[in-house]
Amino acid sequence: MKLFASSSIALAALLQSSQVAAHTFIWGVFLNGVDQGSFRGIRTPAFNGAPPSGYNNSPVKNLTSIDMRCNVLGDFQNSHTIKVVPGDTLTFDWHHDYRTPADDVIDTSHHGPAMIYLSPDPPTENSFVKIWEKGLWDAGEMLKPGKWATTADIKANGGLMHMRVPEGLKAGFYLVRAELVGLHESDARFDQNPIRGAQFYPNCVQIEVTGDGTVELPEGVGFPGAYKYSDPGVHYDIYCSTKTKITAPCTLTYEIPGPTVWSGAYPDTTAVEVGPVSGATAKQPWSSWIIKSVVTSATYSGTKAFATATSVYTASWSSVYQTPTPAPMS
Ligand SMILES: *[C@@H]1O[C@H](CO)[C@@H](O)[C@H](O)[C@H]1NC(C)=O
Repeated sequence: MKLFASSSIALAALLQSSQVAAHTFIWGVFLNGVDQGSFRGIRTPAFNGAPPSGYNNSPVKNLTSIDMRCNVLGDFQNSHTIKVVPGDTLTFDWHHDYRTPADDVIDTSHHGPAMIYLSPDPPTENSFVKIWEKGLWDAGEMLKPGKWATTADIKANGGLMHMRVPEGLKAGFYLVRAELVGLHESDARFDQNPIRGAQFYPNCVQIEVTGDGTVELPEGVGFPGAYKYSDPGVHYDIYCSTKTKITAPCTLTYEIPGPTVWSGAYPDTTAVEVGPVSGATAKQPWSSWIIKSVVTSATYSGTKAFATATSVYTASWSSVYQTPTPAPMS
């Protein structure tokens, strides 16, 4: 990361652009129902803005950006890795503002699919294997948006998303890439209209599989690369069934983006009951944040942040597994 001298002009721009709404990310991981602790094992996306108006984990919309892989600062490891064995259930706890039952998880309008991929850590150009997906499961009736994984499942279940570690999976370090997609503006394509387009919320979790399994993941897809702006599941009018005057082709079926689910994955993911949350349930001031590839470091007086330095961020993914070092903003 190259350090740049702090510029007051750049800083003013940063503070102004931090006024957008916060979105959703994984706050904790339960292993067989037991919480591993808030933010432990998770490559939490940089909260894109200065507190108190910050914490803006904006969606990734640029399909060719490296941020599609594990979100903003996704190359920075978490210092903790969650140890699992094949067959274990991991439950991801998605939240918006608080890690509590009162939190709204994700905005009501953010209907869309949810997917989970698994890759060896570090990933390669084609190492992400889809192990679970859910999209539109009840188209409902005309004039209603239908029932979607993000809103009618994960939001309705208090933010919980479950996956199982594939049977017989070979020991090693892996990254889980869990993803929610908001389709409320996906009738437009981001490459044609950058203020709109499908909204992707990828989050990566570091796991270490132990045991004597022999199953290797097959070839998968790459992030970025797996999705195209023209994919029917990326350019999709979620509201067309609610329009009385149809101006574009309108379907009540939905094709989830990306590859099909790997046959080695568990066909069904059973919800497990989760125990109490351990760790922070509210946002805490971060020592750095990032907006449009600029990292700002700050000190605090109460909740007021004072920027001390800025630097330009360029993702740098190692090609070999590295023992975790903490992210710069934790
Ligand atoms: C999308 O990301 C690519 C790769 O980082 C970049 O070259 C391009 O300028 C970005 N497009 C927009 C509209 O931000």
